[in-house]
Amino acid sequence: MHTTKIAGVGHYVPENIVKNADLEMIMETSDAWIQERTGIKERRWVPQDSDDTPSVMGTKAARKAIADAGLEVTDIDFIVFATLSPDYYFPGPGVMVQEQLGLPEIGALDVRNQCSGFIYGLSVADQFIKTGMYKNILLIGSELHSGGLDKTTRGRGVSVIFGDGAGAVVLSRAQEGEGKIHTTKLHSEGKHAKELALLGPSTTNWVDAMIEAQDPEDLSYYPYMNGNFVFKHAVTRFQEVIHEALAELDKKPEDIDLLIPHQANLRISQFIQQKMGLRNDQVFNNIQKYGNTTAASIPIALSEAKAEGRIKPGQLLCLAAFGSGFTWGSSLIQF
Ligand code: UT7
Repeated sequence: MHTTKIAGVGHYVPENIVKNADLEMIMETSDAWIQERTGIKERRWVPQDSDDTPSVMGTKAARKAIADAGLEVTDIDFIVFATLSPDYYFPGPGVMVQEQLGLPEIGALDVRNQCSGFIYGLSVADQFIKTGMYKNILLIGSELHSGGLDKTTRGRGVSVIFGDGAGAVVLSRAQEGEGKIHTTKLHSEGKHAKELALLGPSTTNWVDAMIEAQDPEDLSYYPYMNGNFVFKHAVTRFQEVIHEALAELDKKPEDIDLLIPHQANLRISQFIQQKMGLRNDQVFNNIQKYGNTTAASIPIALSEAKAEGRIKPGQLLCLAAFGSGFTWGSSLIQF
């Protein structure tokens, strides 16, 4: 059995910064409300006339991760792409990355696990490398939320939170003494599927029927989130799944060098930090700058944390996520 290391990291965010004050101009909200409830100061939103799409942003992040790994694009032998905002309903963006990178006809897998998508993708890629099937897998998390948000006062409970961007990692077969993905833990609870979801148009909510009904009350083409409900589950599940991974390795919270939680809400991260007794230097947050970028939030944070010297080779890294599905997961990694 082989082991998997994180060989390279990279991220890309669109240039266009949208500050809370900018949102005050288009809906009834305030910088004070957004910062107090979420910690977010600004986010990136792709302008409508931009060429950036989830796959294009993912490819930009991927090139940086491949360079960071000291590899050539042609060394990549499989692609995993996690997103809830694909370029198209189908095909998924994985194949577009294969095309944009000019890779030969390697496999490309699309992962649909929303905020936990990066951890699910990490787990899948880890299994492929462990068995020896692939050597260098490109794992991307990328989201373009802004095009699909209700940016009026009606949608403010959701739209102020989400941002656009992409992060990528190269996962490679490790040599003795190099980094290692120790474990990944994955969970789901589908009974809460509709508490954070975009339900239409879809195969159960037909476009034709929606157009015909012309129901102004039907907002199912916008994401819906039962914020309080999601918040309560998030704070519990994050802790559970981190402890589950730590227990497998016989480790304690104090052994974690850096926890990178999915950037859902700064209050969620701070709650977990406090409950687990972690110091500030043990937790990385950047939601203040980017908002919640769903599947992209962990790899963007990972890339920034490395660039800032917050994670060094040999350190114990913990990743954890919770979101729509509900799905949640964690990973313990020796960097
Ligand atoms: O990444 C996937 C997982 N997602 C999460 O983990 C998100 C979890 N949930 C949350 O982060 C929080 O629930 C939110 C940030 C979404 C909302 O914060 P909250 O403290 O739960 O606020 P609330 O929904 O209870 O709303 C409180 C008030 C309401 O007004 P009333 O009914 O008290 O008069 C809302 O209408 O705040 C109002 N409100 C806003 N006011 C100004 C909601 N959104 C806004 C807004 N600006 N953007």
